Amino acid sequence: MSSYRIAWLPGDGVGPEVCAAARLVLDAVGFDAAYLPGDIGWECWRREGDALPERTLSLLRATDCAFFGAITSKPAAAAARELDPVLQGLGLTYRSPIVRMRQLLDLYVCLRPCRAFPGNALNYRDGIDLVVFRENTEGMYCGVEFDRPPEEFYAVPRMHAVPRDAAISLRSITRRASERIVEAAFRYAAEHGRRKVTAVHKANVLRSTCGLFLEAAESVAARYPRIQFESANVDAICMWLLKNPLHYDVIVTTNLFGDILSDLCAQMVGGLGFAYSGNLGEGYAVFEPTHGSAPKYAGQRRVNPLATILAAKMMLEWLGERDKARRIESAVGRVIAQGRARTYDMGGQTSTLEMAEAVCAALEDGRD
Ligand code: IPM
Ligand code: MG
Repeated sequence: MSSYRIAWLPGDGVGPEVCAAARLVLDAVGFDAAYLPGDIGWECWRREGDALPERTLSLLRATDCAFFGAITSKPAAAAARELDPVLQGLGLTYRSPIVRMRQLLDLYVCLRPCRAFPGNALNYRDGIDLVVFRENTEGMYCGVEFDRPPEEFYAVPRMHAVPRDAAISLRSITRRASERIVEAAFRYAAEHGRRKVTAVHKANVLRSTCGLFLEAAESVAARYPRIQFESANVDAICMWLLKNPLHYDVIVTTNLFGDILSDLCAQMVGGLGFAYSGNLGEGYAVFEPTHGSAPKYAGQRRVNPLATILAAKMMLEWLGERDKARRIESAVGRVIAQGRARTYDMGGQTSTLEMAEAVCAALEDGRD
């Protein structure tokens, strides 16, 4: 019997390729698990009209955690046109299954480390080592949208400012969700010897929602006197991050801002080929590369699998397999520093699987 049960969700596009690469490394490091495949994503939607079917949710409930590749997501109208003809006309709407999965399983932390591996020619600057904590269940991605405001809207004071032909997305922010993401960021900082937490908002304009988030952040910060706390407006921090990236350590923010900022931070450490995420809840977690399904590269076996391999490393950390996680991270570090295996984004021609094989070989070299 394997010790762990992992839901294995390769998804669409390059998802299966990068997941296969990560599997090579998980096997090479001696991680003993049963991998249980599940359907999710665009192809699943086209066939069934549901990008996250109930059987996949049951699989998630029956496993220790999940490993996810990537999915293709499209705007609702484009999605509806591509639905199986038999299912068209049922009025099914496409919603990103990854966003839904985060909400349904209450995976409220989106943890996105961005570390410049020494020797990576793509680093914006050496020494960058920051972590983004993105709130993962509410905010702009809470899922309440209207193609047009319903009539009842206009009964609410001040709604007359909304034109009748406006599309509307609601951004809901709660004190509870704000406090728990900030708490997660401070706990992480305390446990990992980090010195500073920066809360990112736009409270000067979004006075209610960001105001509440900032207030929650300040109240949590008061419980951690040994860790520095500062706050920054989201627009300003985009500029400061480029100007002085070494100033930042742990960044915590709401859902949409975190989505955007984490891509910015990823680019500073080599781009999406190196960016990985953990969607973490109290008892369950889903690990994934931050990049999407890159349909134009699907089947070409050339995308950089390091992001997915690092997501596997994060999964091992979360499961308590720290030694195996550390070995994967240092093997990845060695491959990058040696600079012999380089995928196209790194200016080379190494294939996805060859890159994974290079990491496996570096695991062997790293044995004490
Ligand atoms: C991410 C992605 C997703 C998100 C998309 C694919 C729904 O951009 O994980 O950052 O917006 O959260
Ligand atoms: Mg994103």
